[in-house]
Amino acid sequence: MFVPIFDTGVCIYDLDEQDALRESPRVDQVLNELFSLPAVQAEKNVEDAQGGRALSSVHLYETHAITDLLDFKNSSLGVWILKSMFDAALQLGFNETRDIRKFKFHRSWANKMYKNCDAIAHRHALGTSVIPHLVAIYYHEVPEASADLIFIDDKNDSEMRGGRYFEYPAEKQFRVSPKAGRLVCHDAKFLHATSVHESESPRTCLIVEVGFPPLP
Ligand SMILES: [Fe+2]
Repeated sequence: MFVPIFDTGVCIYDLDEQDALRESPRVDQVLNELFSLPAVQAEKNVEDAQGGRALSSVHLYETHAITDLLDFKNSSLGVWILKSMFDAALQLGFNETRDIRKFKFHRSWANKMYKNCDAIAHRHALGTSVIPHLVAIYYHEVPEASADLIFIDDKNDSEMRGGRYFEYPAEKQFRVSPKAGRLVCHDAKFLHATSVHESESPRTCLIVEVGFPPLP
């Protein structure tokens, strides 16, 4: 579903609860294995994560792409995410300039955010970037008092990172509450941050970046 935000928008999809429950053990298993890897445990917080601990497999995207680990092309969760991303690409108008049927995976990874952590404002692409075009975040584990995703009204797409969410005026922030089974798709250039994760339990999500070739 397209949700207008400022003079643009994002797309939000919610997986049917029964489907989310059915998919959950397999995702748990894959993520538990991934987050147990010494290469993930030993890695410090990514630059975006402030205030508390966060685990990320972003640096392993070439060898441990989440789209492979979860077999996106052959699993019902993966197919649902890919179909939703295709719909989002249409809703966001990428089809006007790009061949969205020939999308290419860019990076994909998982994040696990612990208490007191927040993500500083960032983009996944700059105005001058070739790829990615579209980013999808699938929320797998979302306890009460989880960090919200916050989109920020800032057209200056020449900087990859901004400040922490509270440094932006309230009228420039638009909050999306995550929940388990929710997929949020946004333009890779859209600046976003998170609020502080206040739960004792972690919040986990998958992130998938895709790019589209230009129309012939
Ligand atoms: Fe992001």
